[in-house]
Amino acid sequence: IRRITVPQIRARKGGEPIVSLTSYHSHTAAIVDKYADFILVGDSLGMVMHGMESTVGVTLDMMITHGKAVVRGTKRALIVVDMPFGTYEESPQMAFRNAARIMTETMCQAVKLEGGARMAETIRYLVDRGIPVMAHIGLTPQSTNVMGGFKTQGRDEATWAHHIDDAKAVTEAGAFAVVVEGVVEPLAREITAQIEIPTIGIGASADCDGQILVLEDMLGLNPRPPKFVKVYGELGGMIERAVSAYADEVKSRAFPSDDQTYR
Ligand code: KIV
Ligand code: NA
Repeated sequence: IRRITVPQIRARKGGEPIVSLTSYHSHTAAIVDKYADFILVGDSLGMVMHGMESTVGVTLDMMITHGKAVVRGTKRALIVVDMPFGTYEESPQMAFRNAARIMTETMCQAVKLEGGARMAETIRYLVDRGIPVMAHIGLTPQSTNVMGGFKTQGRDEATWAHHIDDAKAVTEAGAFAVVVEGVVEPLAREITAQIEIPTIGIGASADCDGQILVLEDMLGLNPRPPKFVKVYGELGGMIERAVSAYADEVKSRAFPSDDQTYR
């Protein structure tokens, strides 16, 4: 089966909402692949998979390793891989070099990078050279050290113009879609109404053209999920019950039984 394409995602503006989740891992990606229009190999893997406190320590090699796993495990969804902190901000040329490594080594279909107007020149440079770019505005987690934490954006209406300018700048620069993270509902609505590319919301209300969540958050594996997460599955509890049953059975010698033994 041919994968969903960048123009197909782009064409969903204002239509049926775009479904997306993150994935870092082959077996879960294969399940998500049946339902998602695109899968993001997000740099949130630094926290979810590697126990980091922020995404700032994630490397290009980590993104490529997990990107390969997700591409191998899927056949239908468009795969987008995050560019990690420090691999694209310096210059369009540096961004191209690193984005090209992500594309050639993982065989994903697009990259995502954080930043609005300040990244417009880089987005244009990549798109003109064959690399589709998903932008990411609003709350941008790679800037956590500047912002002093993860703060919802747009509570003060005086900041709206700045976020709307970011959305317009990435659209002008050729991004095919934009993640809008952690913004108040009326700002998300305004951004979505003012640009011609799909907005993908996370903590950004139902007024976006699509939604994304971190898979492990919605599966109940995050002990302290943010307010914007709806927990659709209780995988944390399931894993704990299974591990505890296994531990009991090893100790009582109930496992392995005849069924699991080569005679
Ligand atoms: O890294 C990530 O998972 C993301 C999404 C939350 C949009 O950037
Ligand atoms: Na990210």
